[in-house]
Amino acid sequence: MRDEATQIGQVRRIFNQVVPVYDLLNHVLSAGQDLHWRRFTALAMRLQPGDKVLDVATGTGDLALAEADLPTRPLVVGLDLVPAMLGPAKKKIAKSGARVRLLAGDGTALPFAGETFAAVSIAFGIRNIPRRGAALAEMRRVLRPGGRVYVLEFTTPQGPWVRRIYTRYLMHLLPKVGGLISGDEESYRYLAETIREFPTPSEFRDEMKQAGLVGARSHPLTRGVAWLHVAERPLG
Ligand SMILES: C[S@@+](CC[C@H](N)C(=O)[O-])C[C@H]1O[C@@H](n2cnc3c(N)ncnc32)[C@H](O)[C@@H]1O
Repeated sequence: MRDEATQIGQVRRIFNQVVPVYDLLNHVLSAGQDLHWRRFTALAMRLQPGDKVLDVATGTGDLALAEADLPTRPLVVGLDLVPAMLGPAKKKIAKSGARVRLLAGDGTALPFAGETFAAVSIAFGIRNIPRRGAALAEMRRVLRPGGRVYVLEFTTPQGPWVRRIYTRYLMHLLPKVGGLISGDEESYRYLAETIREFPTPSEFRDEMKQAGLVGARSHPLTRGVAWLHVAERPLG
């Protein structure tokens, strides 16, 4: 088990280095499914006109852009620990004119007052944050009462056959292809390990409850390769 400082250092190094090929790798390694997963998440959020939304670990901004592109035109703030990852996001926003504000920051110490946002999202980011409980508690703090958290994340599928095929893909093919495109096989081995170590959907729902969120539920996507976990800040 790596200590927290080592993990954060590794996350910073990996995402600083992967920026130029990040979007391409996402599409190749998920066979184009990542676009569908983010779009599904944005639609599931049922945002209203005037809603303010926070996308934590926004990276190159694809979920933030899918949210801003909804017919209700919410105002989206995208935050990421690694400023370099926001570079491609800035370009996409400038090109599309989307209502997205970007800033660098840490998901475990959000630079916002309590009860600021109608919804908070995070896509493929929570498993890179060693103190998941602190990140979930911060999301709860900045949500308005009744507001929802949407966590899109990979989990090893539970069915025996899919699990066996997926684990082979994760531990062998993904680091090889990731290494070929990015020149850094080791980083992709690390990312594969974070997926294998991520809790099951039911364990993750317990973590959401421990962070003071209620009504936790999970929806499988693509045979349980990815899951959308949803919970809300209680009204009282
Ligand atoms: C796999 S990428 C996901 C990016 C984007 N959400 C997407 O769907 O493609 C993970 C992102 O989490 C960010 N990250 C890691 N730790 C973080 C933290 N403590 N606070 C905010 N962002 C963090 C990384 O910099 C990286 O951009």
